[in-house]
Amino acid sequence: MKGVILAGGTGSRLYPLTKVTNKHLLPVYDKPMIYYPLQTLIDAGIKDIMIVSGRGHAGHFLELLGSGAEFGVKFTYEIQDHAGGIAQALGLADDFADNDNITVILGDNIFQDNIKDAVQSFESGAHIFLKSVPDAHRFGVAEVDVNNGRVLGIEEKPAKPKSDLAVTGLYIYSNDVFDIIKTLKPSGRGELEITDVNNHYIRMDKMKFTMLKGYWSDAGTFESLLRASLMVRKIA
Ligand code: DAU
Repeated sequence: MKGVILAGGTGSRLYPLTKVTNKHLLPVYDKPMIYYPLQTLIDAGIKDIMIVSGRGHAGHFLELLGSGAEFGVKFTYEIQDHAGGIAQALGLADDFADNDNITVILGDNIFQDNIKDAVQSFESGAHIFLKSVPDAHRFGVAEVDVNNGRVLGIEEKPAKPKSDLAVTGLYIYSNDVFDIIKTLKPSGRGELEITDVNNHYIRMDKMKFTMLKGYWSDAGTFESLLRASLMVRKIA
């Protein structure tokens, strides 16, 4: 199993905080934001990790994180030239994955749960992590059949969510994810959507999910960044 942290994108929702630095380098309580998704991968036992960042400030990731020796892991760095979407950023990890399975985490997502069991028992297809939230319309929203534990579908930022289950920014995929990404077309917002990738696995009946028990937040807006900092301080 390899790991990828996606830290591209523009961070436009946090402007002007992101005018001279990258969103994922901003503080969440006492650490740079990217330390949290990194720790989630390390705690899952993943040792070979690619960091995908945009062009601006890419050198700062290298300066901050180095080779990975300090964390007991190995880092590989990749540049996403344009913010073409989460799935497009993941596609850049194709050669790095080298036929292995891959765990993907968004650089602005903060998890309390340990996902080691899901990572280590993963066989094939895809696995997502769901969390009940009060503002589901801000996220990918999953409709699940509680009787048979199947995911029926995911809608990206629906005006009228079919459930309160947010699809968090953490995904485990077989290596065939890279073939699926090559078939995607840009969405209305001009991006290759990770939700389209996930719906592909759902249609093939190859999607599993875990309900997260602990705290989860994104940190890509002023409100969620503040909330994430306060929550991290509380559970530290
Ligand atoms: O936070 C979870 C949500 O993340 C999911 O529920 C949604 O299904 C998923 O689409 C995503 O929603 P957002 O629209 O909030 O994602 P955002 O554009 O803020 O990007 C989140 C992270 O993904 C960002 O911190 C870095 C990475 N990213 C994003 C884009 C658009 C890239 O690496 N490259 C990109 O081009």
